Amino acid sequence: MIQYVSMKIDGAIFKVPKGSSVLDVAIEYGICIPHLCHVPNISDLGACRLCIVEHVVEGRSKVTTSCTLRVQEGMVIKSNTQKIKRLRKNIAELLVSQAPNSKAIQDIAVRCGVKTVRYPFRNDNCVLCGRCVRICREQWQAKAIGFVGRGKDRRVKSPFGVKSETCKMCGNCIDLCPMTITPCDGPMKPGEEYLCGKCESQLMEAESAVDQCIMCGLGEGFQCARH
Ligand code: SF4
Ligand code: SF4
Ligand code: FES
Repeated sequence: MIQYVSMKIDGAIFKVPKGSSVLDVAIEYGICIPHLCHVPNISDLGACRLCIVEHVVEGRSKVTTSCTLRVQEGMVIKSNTQKIKRLRKNIAELLVSQAPNSKAIQDIAVRCGVKTVRYPFRNDNCVLCGRCVRICREQWQAKAIGFVGRGKDRRVKSPFGVKSETCKMCGNCIDLCPMTITPCDGPMKPGEEYLCGKCESQLMEAESAVDQCIMCGLGEGFQCARH
């Protein structure tokens, strides 16, 4: 039998199944918490840190990722405080600097209030979100790709750098990767630290600008007109 707990997000009370994550609850009830590495029905890694919230315990708050935080009876969550908005904007800015050509990441950053990027562009073509690795392992039990290396050398690769025989050629790893979405205004170059801003106009003029939607699938629960 499903057990329920009572908890608060931004002052609103919810009765939700025990074991849900705070992000699941937010998505279910249309509360806007930006997220990138979360994939529905796949385990959460807490990699991108975009989904941070304040968890208030006995008057003291702790910043934590909502995708990895399980709901508890009496839990109090604040998802949109000034502190969270400032930290989240910085995280989004770092993600853009890591992969400036990802339209999906630019869109998320714009929605987090990023207008310019203060960090040097790295053009990594991967933000280590782990969406590809987890879908491969959990959906297909294939483990055809995985993380290798540490720190700035960390990468996603197939075992020993050769195409794995366990790969089912399903293409899910590519479909879920925020890097595979075509950049809207061509590649961004060092020295051109701007964001395209199309997502921003899409938010403001949802009806007239829907054709600009790239269906990135990352706007769920995040003020996106297409979700
Ligand atoms: S295409 Fe291959 S590597 Fe990619 S998710 Fe499917 S099984 Fe894994
Ligand atoms: S390859 Fe894409 S999906 Fe995989 S970790 Fe990097 S950014 Fe994420
Ligand atoms: S969605 Fe929670 S850390 Fe990425």
